[in-house]
Amino acid sequence: MRILLTGSSGLLGSAIAELAIRGSHELYSAYNQHQPRSGIPLKLDLTDLSAIGRAVRKIRPDAIVHAAALTDVDRCERERDLALRVNYEATSALASAARESGAFLVYVSTDYVFNGERGLYSESDEPDPVNFYGYTKLRGEESVEELAGDYCIARASVIYGAAPASGKANFALWLIERLRRGEGARVLVDQYASPTLNSGLARMILEAAERGLGGIYHMAGADRVSRYEFAAGLCKALGLDASLLEPARMEDMGWAARRPRDSSLDVSKAAGALRAKPLRLIEALGILRGELGCSLE
Ligand SMILES: NC(=O)c1ccc[n+]([C@@H]2O[C@H](COP(=O)([O-])OP(=O)(O)OC[C@H]3O[C@@H](n4cnc5c(N)ncnc54)[C@H](OP(=O)(O)O)[C@@H]3O)[C@@H](O)[C@H]2O)c1
Repeated sequence: MRILLTGSSGLLGSAIAELAIRGSHELYSAYNQHQPRSGIPLKLDLTDLSAIGRAVRKIRPDAIVHAAALTDVDRCERERDLALRVNYEATSALASAARESGAFLVYVSTDYVFNGERGLYSESDEPDPVNFYGYTKLRGEESVEELAGDYCIARASVIYGAAPASGKANFALWLIERLRRGEGARVLVDQYASPTLNSGLARMILEAAERGLGGIYHMAGADRVSRYEFAAGLCKALGLDASLLEPARMEDMGWAARRPRDSSLDVSKAAGALRAKPLRLIEALGILRGELGCSLE
């Protein structure tokens, strides 16, 4: 099928692009500042709202996978107009264009739509974001529900992967690099989530696009863990020195934006509906080890 992918240079988008090309899809890889390696590159700045409709009308995709976003949570708190433009207004424009052209839309959203007071959120739980990033992503979800014809909203949580993307590392790579240099790493013991391997998430999202799976799905890792537990799991899987992990607390971080304390997701709906299942952490870390090309000593 013909797919238009936004955010194809990003951590998730690059994994979706690779998988879509392997699956022989005709892929248009939209990006802004970092040209992607897979697919037909398409420079598309999502702050230019009229360019979005033009691109969709020209390409006439069967499906649009919208994985682009302003994902820097603290930057979203400070640069609110830009965050609204990219995460909400561009999503609205894409949703309208998807309906006009009859394309199925997959919108990638986040566990940060929840306030994190409880954790293990299911799709029927009420969103209540505690920061501006979460607010803009929720507005994006609402615009998809209102404007798109057929759509899937896929909420993920703490995405990680084997390669830098969009010019930056992710938590797993940051940790691996520090520990391999023998440097300590401060890791939170009081923030919980459902860490999600990008390649596993890409499989779920591509399947949703191929099958036209409609509705909201929590597509995340299948285990709720603290950052510290996640880091300890990475150490075990990759043979890194866990004694370098330094327990830290959210209140010590001095962030511009508040974070939810426990934004872990209940993935049972996705596990029941998809052939590509949410991965257990131990499975995902084994896959990551293979993707990094390392072996345990
Ligand atoms: N990372 C996480 O832990 C996490 C957790 C839950 C949900 N999510 C969601 O998952 C999705 C993918 O996140 P990610 O971590 O893969 O993102 P990422 O690595 O930060 O990449 C962001 C992508 O968005 C593109 N982008 C940003 N501003 C743009 C603009 N003005 N015009 C066009 N493209 C623009 C970037 O393009 P260039 O690099 O080419 O500029 C890049 O491809 C997002 O919807 C995010 O909200 C992420």
